[in-house]
Amino acid sequence: MSVSLVTGAMLLAVLTPTTTPVTTTTSTATTTAAATEPTTTAAVPSARVVQEAAPGCDLTSANARKGDLVWGFKKSFRQYVGVGLPGATGNSITATNGATITALDEVLRDGVPNPAGTPTGAYRFTFDSADYTSPTQFTARYRGTVAFSYPTHFFTLVLSDPWVTTASGTATLHADIELKATPGAPTQPSNQPDVALARLTPPAAAPTNGLLAWPDVPATLTTAEAFGGFYQAGATLDPLTMTLAADCATVPTAPPTANPVVPPVAATTENLIPIARFRPTPGLASTGVDAEHGLWAGVVLLLTGLALVLAAYRPRRT
Ligand code: HEM
Repeated sequence: MSVSLVTGAMLLAVLTPTTTPVTTTTSTATTTAAATEPTTTAAVPSARVVQEAAPGCDLTSANARKGDLVWGFKKSFRQYVGVGLPGATGNSITATNGATITALDEVLRDGVPNPAGTPTGAYRFTFDSADYTSPTQFTARYRGTVAFSYPTHFFTLVLSDPWVTTASGTATLHADIELKATPGAPTQPSNQPDVALARLTPPAAAPTNGLLAWPDVPATLTTAEAFGGFYQAGATLDPLTMTLAADCATVPTAPPTANPVVPPVAATTENLIPIARFRPTPGLASTGVDAEHGLWAGVVLLLTGLALVLAAYRPRRT
């Protein structure tokens, strides 16, 4: 099940009036594979809490002021950067300026999420603004920056401030995409503000109790410039889940954020003597001095010294 199916199921639940808050636990997705063998299913700690809907609330152009966008961009890319190919060092994925990394759809290896210690879940972008006319004609803007950094492959890719626009039965996801490339990269850096990044298949959805939800929307890449020739236009991206809501509406709570990456801590009972990294082995070149000869040389030197001291203090005959 994809992240969007998961969040989509939760969104459908929020559209249904209920009196009892329910906590839903999600599982993870399988999409295209890259650097490791992903995806045995593992439980995500907790997901979005479905709250009581707000009857009588209508979404209008004047009150469209809430919502979020949950999107993993492309799971194989999260894996490529977040797990890395053999030899990768210093890789990172960070989310700032209103974006968070969720625990949804994390990359697994042998059932362990985020096997390299880098969070690999989908991203949540917070609401920024909207121009809403109808469920088939609107623009919804979200806020946040996600940076994918792969130093040994000479690039950082920055995805910022995605927005969704729909009219005449089509829908497009725009975003700022910047590829920062250092010398050695196989491609030039590029900066594409507000580029049409993905074509979406808009669902036939209507607002319920002030909440318009687009769960599990298929997405395909429309510009490949920022991806070093590794993706072509038309490539399948992760499906996205989007909400746009009136300020009087009840929206699902944010999905859980990524599990904190806890660095291993040395146990207090551990031997604190540093590990010797280099130990002489019998194969090393000999200096010609072994321990036994060194001991005898020391004894001889000691006795010689003693004899000299005694000679110096011997009483003189007058
Ligand atoms: C501007 C620099 C670069 C960019 C933007 C870039 C981008 C990408 C992208 C988008 C993928 C596809 C990931 C996926 O979805 O599976 C990829 C895969 C790959 N990249 Fe890079 N890359 C860059 C530099 C490099 C360099 C310098 C190397 C080699 C030293 C490299 C080696 C690879 C390999 C081997 C894969 C295939 C991984 C797999 O499928 O297992 N890349 N790269």
